[in-house]
Amino acid sequence: MAQSRRDFLKGTAWMGVAAMAAGSFAKDGVAAATGAPMHGFAVPPIPVIRIGFIGIGSRGTAAVHRIAQIPGCQITAICDINPARLEAARNWLKERGLPPAKEYGKTEDDWKRLCDTEDVDVIYSATPRPLHCPINVYAMDHGKHVMQEVPGVFNLDECWQTVEAAERNRRHCMMLENCAYGEYEMLAFNLVNKGMLGEIIQAEVGYSHDQRSLQYNPHDGVFWRIERHKTHHGNYYPTHGLVPAGKCMNINRGDRFDYLVSMETKSASFELYGRENFPEGDWRHTAKMVRGDVNVSLIRTVGGRTVQLTHNVCTPRPYSRGGVLMGTKGIFRAYPEYRVGFETKVGDGAAHSYFDAEKAERIREEYKHPFWKVAGEIAKKVGGHGGMDFIMDLRWVYCLQNGLPLDTNVYDLATYSSIVELSEKSVNSRSSAIDFPDYTRGGWKTAKPFVVDEIDISKFRFDNLAKDKDAQTV
Ligand SMILES: NC(=O)c1ccc[n+]([C@@H]2O[C@H](COP(=O)([O-])OP(=O)(O)OC[C@H]3O[C@@H](n4cnc5c(N)ncnc54)[C@H](O)[C@@H]3O)[C@@H](O)[C@H]2O)c1
Repeated sequence: MAQSRRDFLKGTAWMGVAAMAAGSFAKDGVAAATGAPMHGFAVPPIPVIRIGFIGIGSRGTAAVHRIAQIPGCQITAICDINPARLEAARNWLKERGLPPAKEYGKTEDDWKRLCDTEDVDVIYSATPRPLHCPINVYAMDHGKHVMQEVPGVFNLDECWQTVEAAERNRRHCMMLENCAYGEYEMLAFNLVNKGMLGEIIQAEVGYSHDQRSLQYNPHDGVFWRIERHKTHHGNYYPTHGLVPAGKCMNINRGDRFDYLVSMETKSASFELYGRENFPEGDWRHTAKMVRGDVNVSLIRTVGGRTVQLTHNVCTPRPYSRGGVLMGTKGIFRAYPEYRVGFETKVGDGAAHSYFDAEKAERIREEYKHPFWKVAGEIAKKVGGHGGMDFIMDLRWVYCLQNGLPLDTNVYDLATYSSIVELSEKSVNSRSSAIDFPDYTRGGWKTAKPFVVDEIDISKFRFDNLAKDKDAQTV
């Protein structure tokens, strides 16, 4: 990130004060502020939220279907370069008697016209990853809040660009990390918040999902996922397991990621799959990958916690996000094998083995997160990764409709997305330690910790809810 751009943006009185308050001046990994800090940022209530969707493939289409069912949301615009996607969305809205949305997508950058329009408050972006940063910046520069799919951006320069755009425009830019809203992840957070697991000191999380078929046979025939494997080392999809764990460690709110080391296996599984499943002459038969099969990073926080983060999308194995949290008083293990155990008196040995399934089930009911208590049934009906996608959407809508800060902010988006480049740098330097930038510029020291919040479901009028099979997502 060129210093000159920040230097150019320096200079207003409030910005100097903000930078001083945050103890932040340009030095390694800590850049001068370019706008007011975004911790705790909220905008006045937006009772009816007008949403423009960019990218209505698998994720975007499912999001249209979910959000159309949330009272107080209007889908005013949709954009996709694939006309079949636009047609399907148009028909879906029509069949349900919903107003038509303006359509965009005639050219690769027609999404800009959508961002220019006056009748959109929020851009919901579910595009291929190279478009995330350009959309974040352009949309915020044109006064829109952004909900961006994961990972929010792809390298450190894009992280800074997105942070600076949010700060200078005073707009939300939230990463749509749905797994932070999973039933088990929220149960874990509730237990942590109540002190049942003590202080969390280590997490074992990640994303292990056999995507050989998906990556070699993509929807719409566009191979954007596999491209990264062909050209780069590192963990390019770090957020699903990590964000929920980071929440339990109050990352950017009392603690922060300090540095990571990353190591990778050789590449073997994609190549074997290609040889065995595609004929000679097909590029997949002889495709070579730069990225190794399994990338493992170890992150250490300033507060002395560690996270083991795995990324593996090509060995034959069941799906897992790890979901192990270890605290000073107990242990939690999430889907696919939920278990929990904690000591009621330090050292009583009660967590030596996990609670049996029956007891763990009782804990699950007793400590269910308030969101899941009030909206779990509706969420499961609407669908989307077992309901977590809907809980996520319900929550940001609720926050915007009620003028509340969003659960995560642009610094979180940047911090978690940084791992894409940091892990690559570490692998490329024999696993040496690489520092995280402090996007908060010291603000993490005073930012309020995460709390267990509520949704007042009565503020929504769910009288017209229909389960839609299309709302199920990949
Ligand atoms: N949170 C999750 O659980 C989850 C799951 C899968 C994917 N994702 C993320 O969601 C995003 C989209 O993934 P997907 O699986 O829906 O991909 P997809 O390929 O199914 O959909 C992408 C859509 O974007 C459209 N598009 C491409 N270029 C465009 C442009 N210039 N303007 C407008 N539209 C354009 C494509 O036509 C396509 O319809 C990715 O960032 C991915 O990382 C998140």
